Amino acid sequence: MNIQDFVRLLRARWVTVLVTLIVTVLGAVAVTLLTTPLYQASTRLFVSTSAGTSLAETYQGNRFSQERVISYTELLTGETLAQRTVDKLGLEMSAEQLRDEITATAKTDSVLIDVHVLDSSPVRASDIANALSDQFVLMARELETPEDGARPDARVVVEQRASVPDRPVVPKTMRNIGVGIALGILFGLGLAVLRDLLDNTVKSRESLEELAGAGLVGTIPLDKDRRKQPAISFDSDNTAIAESFLKLRTNLQFLAVDNPPRVIVIASSMPSEGKSTTAINIALALAEAEHNVLLVDGDMRRPMLHNYLDVVGSVGFSTVLSGAATLSDVLQKSRYPGLSVLSAGAVPPNPSELLGSQAAKKLIAEMRSQFDYVVMDSSPLLAVTDAAILAAGADGVLIIARFGQTKRDQISHAVGILKNVDASLLGAVLTMTPPRGDGSYSYSYSYYGANDGSKRQSSDAKESVKDSEATNDVVASEAGRHKGNLDN
Ligand SMILES: Nc1ncnc2c1ncn2[C@@H]1O[C@H](COP(=O)(O)OP(=O)(O)O)[C@@H](O)[C@H]1O
Ligand SMILES: [Mg+2]
Repeated sequence: MNIQDFVRLLRARWVTVLVTLIVTVLGAVAVTLLTTPLYQASTRLFVSTSAGTSLAETYQGNRFSQERVISYTELLTGETLAQRTVDKLGLEMSAEQLRDEITATAKTDSVLIDVHVLDSSPVRASDIANALSDQFVLMARELETPEDGARPDARVVVEQRASVPDRPVVPKTMRNIGVGIALGILFGLGLAVLRDLLDNTVKSRESLEELAGAGLVGTIPLDKDRRKQPAISFDSDNTAIAESFLKLRTNLQFLAVDNPPRVIVIASSMPSEGKSTTAINIALALAEAEHNVLLVDGDMRRPMLHNYLDVVGSVGFSTVLSGAATLSDVLQKSRYPGLSVLSAGAVPPNPSELLGSQAAKKLIAEMRSQFDYVVMDSSPLLAVTDAAILAAGADGVLIIARFGQTKRDQISHAVGILKNVDASLLGAVLTMTPPRGDGSYSYSYSYYGANDGSKRQSSDAKESVKDSEATNDVVASEAGRHKGNLDN
């Protein structure tokens, strides 16, 4: 992974990192709040031996003290002294419990011993530290006094007494939060990388083109307004999504220029990938260019177009196929100029059979003769065979993949199904891509930036018409070549 990949990953998954960070920092705060505050009181003991008169004796005495210091630190944390301190102060704890609160440390080559007492009460901490030190002074005297009652060999004095600590040493709020932040960033990044590694959805033009084995002819951005109103009003709307459909239209018109596809099926592997919405807007974009367009709801299982476009849904495709009406009886004018709609009609028990019938072939031929373009919505390819049947009888298919949702193997599978029925794959469309500058994967929105297909460069939405036409030519020839491959 290089720096660019990392930046891309961060931009795409900053939410994961942020959420993990917030959780760990909150965890650190919770730990801090739940920790009983502990206060530390400290005393310092000085160990001396009866000084000799000569230099050699003094030196020896010093060494003797240093050796003592080591043993004293053990005694300071020992059971006996703890018990004496408990008795002295009348503490409501056992000697064992008190021992846990005491630490004694001495630096090498030093005759000083630092005694620390950690307790939940600041006053008790200092009381214990002082009482313990006093008791130790007595204890050392007892131990060091020879039996004959001569002067003790070593002496301990409390060099520094404990005062009442004014703030707790535990919890260490700043340190806990610091650790929380560090762990949060670490875990967050780890999680982001992990999620990225486990992500097998389609997220880039390159991977979609590779999986589909066809050029990308459109990239449709996510546009929340489409949930309420799937149809774009191309005469008044110049948002990014409208722009993207106009580009798609241009690309479509350049596909296979010698034999331009006029009956086009919009297919995808799974439900909710934007087939119906895309079909409507491709049809509208074509109608906007003064073409006479028919939009057909070929999804007889879960027809949506009549809802999306506010037309009658009960009569349509299936009605004509069953022989109960003629095409002209059930064709409806939409409220958009140049766009007629054929609803799916009542849901039949055998959609695949109906769509594969001779009647369907004839009906599609009839549609083709009456309209410049016939755009067909369809059922998910991986769910039922309907879309494959429609695709086989059409001039071409556009395969839709939804950004970050459609899985790579679903695309491959769907394309395999289309190949099996010898459908002509016109190209792929990536839908619901994150709007630009939205902390999303920064992938290029252009189609082919340079004449050399491998040297792609990103284009701007506002590129000049001339430019976009030149680019589209390349798309056309690419897709045309691909179509040739399929036909072989
Ligand atoms: N470009 C888009 N931006 C935002 N939402 C979209 C877009 N395309 C489709 N949707 C929404 O996604 C959902 C599924 O779309 P739909 O066209 O019905 O998919 P399909 O026909 O594949 O089941 C719908 O709620 C629709 O409004
Ligand atoms: Mg649909």
